[in-house]
Amino acid sequence: MSQPDNKQSDRGSFGNRLGFILAAAGSAVGLGNLWKFPYLTYKFGGGEGDQHGAGTFVFLYLLCIALVGLPLAIAEILIGRRAKKSPVGAFKALRPGSLWRAVGYLGVVTGFIILSYYTVVAGWATGYVAKSVTNEFANYESHVSNETVYDRILQETREAQQDQSISKEAALAQFGAKYPDSEAYDNAIKEKKLEAYPVALFSDFLSSPYKLIGYFLFFMLLTVGVVLGGVSGGIERWNRILMPALFLMLGILAVRVLTLPGGTKALTFLFKPSFSDISIEMVLFALGQAFFSLSLGMGALLTYGSYLKKNERIGASAVAIVSLDTTVALLASIVIFGSIFSYGLVMKGSGIGNLFTAIPVIFQHMPGGRILTILFYLLICFAALTSTVSLLEVVASTLIDERGMKRRTAVLTGAGVITLVGIPCALSFNVLSDFTLAGKTVFDLFDYFASNIALPLGGIGIALFVGWALTRAEKREELPELATPTFRVWNFLIKYLVPAAVAIVLIATLMGQI
Ligand code: PFF
Repeated sequence: MSQPDNKQSDRGSFGNRLGFILAAAGSAVGLGNLWKFPYLTYKFGGGEGDQHGAGTFVFLYLLCIALVGLPLAIAEILIGRRAKKSPVGAFKALRPGSLWRAVGYLGVVTGFIILSYYTVVAGWATGYVAKSVTNEFANYESHVSNETVYDRILQETREAQQDQSISKEAALAQFGAKYPDSEAYDNAIKEKKLEAYPVALFSDFLSSPYKLIGYFLFFMLLTVGVVLGGVSGGIERWNRILMPALFLMLGILAVRVLTLPGGTKALTFLFKPSFSDISIEMVLFALGQAFFSLSLGMGALLTYGSYLKKNERIGASAVAIVSLDTTVALLASIVIFGSIFSYGLVMKGSGIGNLFTAIPVIFQHMPGGRILTILFYLLICFAALTSTVSLLEVVASTLIDERGMKRRTAVLTGAGVITLVGIPCALSFNVLSDFTLAGKTVFDLFDYFASNIALPLGGIGIALFVGWALTRAEKREELPELATPTFRVWNFLIKYLVPAAVAIVLIATLMGQI
C-alpha cells in the first residue's frame, strides 16, 4: 500500500492495476486463508474424515464469496476510489454531515480488534520459523515416548475394530504382526512418533506465555517498522516476488499430497457437502470467514481503492483479488488435509493448530525438508505481515486524518494500545485459558466478535451506502466498463440481497444465542 497522505495532491497511486491487485491481495491473503480457513473447515468437519460437515462449510463459504464477497469488494473499492480518502474521511467526503461516517469508525475499531489477536497467530508462525531453523521437527524420536505411541496404537485399533475391550497387549501384538522383521517394526514406531510429535510440540509451544508474548511483540514491532518506514517502497516490491512464491509452493505441496496414498481423501472431505449438518451458526461462520479472508467490511479495500487510478477497472480487479484469495484458501486446505489423511495424523482437538502440526510432517518426508520448512513458514510470516500492515494502516490513517496526528504518533499510539489489548489474547492459550465467557477465551471472543459480527455489520453499512446513498450516475462513473446487465445484477445484489442476507444471518444467529 502506498503511504496515505493528508494532502490530497500528493496522495500516491498505484503504477498499474497489477500493483493494486498485488497489494490488495497482499492484504487479503494471510492467516485467514492459511490458518483460519483450514481450522474452521476442520471444526465443522467434526474432526473426522468421513463426515461431510467440512464440505458443507466449504460450499457455504464459496456461496458467500460469490454472492456477498465479490459485490461488496467492488462496492468498497468504489467508495475508496471516488473519495480518495481513508475510511472515515471517505464517508464524510461523499456524504458530508451524514451519519454514514459511523461505518468508517466501526471499521477502525474492527481493525483494531483484529490486529490484536491476528498478531498473536502471526507470532506463532514466527516461532515456527525459529523451530525450523533449529531443526526441532527432526528430533521427534527423543521427544515422544514409546508409551505415547503404544497408547495411540491401542486407541487406533479399538477405533478401527469398534471394540473398546481390546487390551493393549492384543493391540500391540496385532500391530507387530503387520511387520516382517524388527527393522520394519522400528520404522513403523518411528513413523508413529513423527505423527504424534508436531501436536505435542505445538501444545508445548502454546503453553509458554513468554514465548507467545515474545513472538507477538516481535511481530507487532515488525508491523510498526514497516508502516513507519513506508509501505510503498520495500514491502510492495517484496510482495511481487513472495506472493507468487507462496502460491507456487502451495501448488507444489498440493500436488505432492494428492499423489500420496490417501491424500485424495482431502478432496472428498473438502468438496463433498452433505447438507444434513447445516446450521445457521455454520452459515454465520462461513459469512464471517468470507469477510475476514477478503479483508472486507472494515475499510481496508476502501483504503487501497483510494490509490487506484481513475482509468483502472474496478470490477476486473475485484474478480482477480477474490479468485486469488479463494484459491489460496483452498490450496492451503488441500495441503493440510492431504497431509493429515495421507500420513494418518491425529484429528483431535479444535484444529486451531492444523497449519502448525500438519505441515512439518510433509516436509519431514521430503528431501531438503528443513530448508523447505524454513521457507514455508517465512512465506506465511510474510503473508501475515502484508495483512497486519494493512490493518495498522487503516487505524493509523484514520488517526492522522481525523485527529490530526503526525504519522509517527498515530502509528505508535495505535500500535501501543493494540499491543496492550493483544496480550490477553496471547495469554488465552495458557495463563488465561480458563478465563472464558460463554465458553470462549478472550482470543476466541475477539475473533468471533470481529469476524462474525463487526465485519458483517460494516458490510451491511457499505452495501447500504453504495446501494442507497450513492446515485446511479455516481456508481456508473466508477464502473464504466461493466455492461448494463452486469451492472444491474451487481446493483441489485448490493442494494437488496447483500444487506438483507447478511442482516438475516446475523439476527438469526444472535437470537439463537440469547
Ligand atoms: N484478510 C486477512 C487474512 O485473510 O488473513 C485478514 C485481514 C486483513 C482482515 C486486513 C481484515 C483486514 F482489513
